[in-house]
Amino acid sequence: RRKLFVGNWKMHGSLVANGSLLRDLKAAAWEAQGDLAVCVPACYLAQCSEILIRSGIALGAQDVSSHTTGAYTGEVSARMLQDFGCKYVIVGHSERREYHGETDEEIAHKAQRAMAAGLTPIVCVGETLAEREAGRTREVINMQMDAFLSVLEPEETNDLIVAYEPIWAIGTGMTATPEMAQEVHAMLREKLVEKSAEAGELVHILYGGSMRPKNARELLQMPDIDGGLIGGASLIAADFLAIAKSV
Ligand code: 13P
Repeated sequence: RRKLFVGNWKMHGSLVANGSLLRDLKAAAWEAQGDLAVCVPACYLAQCSEILIRSGIALGAQDVSSHTTGAYTGEVSARMLQDFGCKYVIVGHSERREYHGETDEEIAHKAQRAMAAGLTPIVCVGETLAEREAGRTREVINMQMDAFLSVLEPEETNDLIVAYEPIWAIGTGMTATPEMAQEVHAMLREKLVEKSAEAGELVHILYGGSMRPKNARELLQMPDIDGGLIGGASLIAADFLAIAKSV
């Protein structure tokens, strides 16, 4: 699996800032030792898709509706994201689970909608600090994985990406050690293999949570860490690229 680096801009950016960040990324994207993508706020998809044409940097969104179309004020459908050239969409980020009450069931529907529109969902899983300290990491992640794997056909499972984001590591500067992350990634890989041997081979499992230029290399050396889902550091072109060169 070729490494994949996805920037999750979260609720950051402006027309001016996006333009300069993407221009800097485009100029040096050839240096990356893997594929690059940015997941931008929905209102900037049009701007970013235009800037990224023929850049080799893929475009993604940060959320998608669990419905196909209809009277759902404020929602953006998978078909709309596809219309703007999105390749990826993040689904079930812990910030959406926590602040927007997204359930495992809703997240599974979102992943299905994304796939039906030809997008690759990046499904996020991860435990809280309290869950880790209570020794419940495996149980929590199993539940999150089962929720969406159970609604997918085995062959559909090949077309998704899983991101392991320990919640206690997001935006805190506390990174999981490479061994801690690898242990969970190996377990995620086993879950995928149970569903489809092919998915076990094909599916990228990304690590997310305070990934920085200084800690990326040792994480990326782990056999089941196929790249990163990067928040803060993806807003600085030099840092995002430095991570993508740490292979
Ligand atoms: P940080 O890299 O800022 O910790 O964010 C990680 C994340 O949540 C990416 O989706």
